Amino acid sequence: MPRFGLGVYKMTDHEETLQSIDTALKFGYRAIDTASLYGNEAEVGEAIRYSGIPREHIFVTTKVWNNDQGYDETLRAFEVSLKKLKMDYVDLYLTHWAVPETFEETYRAIERLYDEKLIRATGVSNHHEHHLEKILAKANIAPMVNQVEMHPYLQQQALSAYCHEHQIAVTAWSPLGRGGVLDDSTILEISKEIGKTTAQVVLRWHLQNDTLIIPKSVTPSRIEENAQIFDFELTQTQMEKIASLNRNQRFGQDPDHFKFDF
Ligand SMILES: NC(=O)c1ccc[n+]([C@@H]2O[C@H](COP(=O)([O-])OP(=O)(O)OC[C@H]3O[C@@H](n4cnc5c(N)ncnc54)[C@H](OP(=O)(O)O)[C@@H]3O)[C@@H](O)[C@H]2O)c1
Repeated sequence: MPRFGLGVYKMTDHEETLQSIDTALKFGYRAIDTASLYGNEAEVGEAIRYSGIPREHIFVTTKVWNNDQGYDETLRAFEVSLKKLKMDYVDLYLTHWAVPETFEETYRAIERLYDEKLIRATGVSNHHEHHLEKILAKANIAPMVNQVEMHPYLQQQALSAYCHEHQIAVTAWSPLGRGGVLDDSTILEISKEIGKTTAQVVLRWHLQNDTLIIPKSVTPSRIEENAQIFDFELTQTQMEKIASLNRNQRFGQDPDHFKFDF
């Protein structure tokens, strides 16, 4: 799985979505993170076909939304996603949030999709350690990915260590804190020190922590900027300075207090 991709949440305009994915693929992105909730699976499929890049060179993630969860419901929701994408498999399929009554059954359906080779990897999103424990107790195939909110103000070190211990890759959603960490004075200072933008500093910090990232942007210059993070390295001191910024601050919801009527 590529360590870096484009997130497409809130890309609702048809043309803008196609353009953004096209730009990202031109700048070397090879992973796209969508969800049935985002309403743009059709655009993701269309942009990938239009690019001419072979399907197997692009890693496509989508997710089952909360009110589609449960065993049979998830299998049906997956079919709908596949049709919208106009693809015959998806690279990674995730439970979007751990709906208390259904998340275990949902994951069981995801395992079946994996067995049937309709997905290349299994995973979950917004799962705390206690959710993962329940899944791991029953699963034949452990989740390969947990996608959670993560950025310098919400570092989730315990969850991340738990995932790594169980060989579950961690993907950071809102890796830039929806832009909310980019004016931080410590990050600005590091940015000036090394001549990189604050977004590049934050994204590089994630990579060096072994976290996968899916920054979202519809701005071509930012899509390019966010991809230029493989030609420099943060020092141990710079990594530690960013590690000290954690304040357990969420820009999204806490999975244990999710408003499921959303
Ligand atoms: N699993 C989940 O529950 C979940 C939840 C939320 C998100 N996600 C996934 O994670 C992806 C990323 O998260 P996100 O969209 O919430 O937040 P994000 O990637 O942290 O931040 C996106 C925001 O930052 C701006 N931005 C991007 N690059 C920038 C740069 N170089 N300089 C300054 N500003 C920049 C974007 O603006 P412009 O677009 O205007 O350029 C946008 O407003 C989503 O698209 C989605 O795929 C998953």
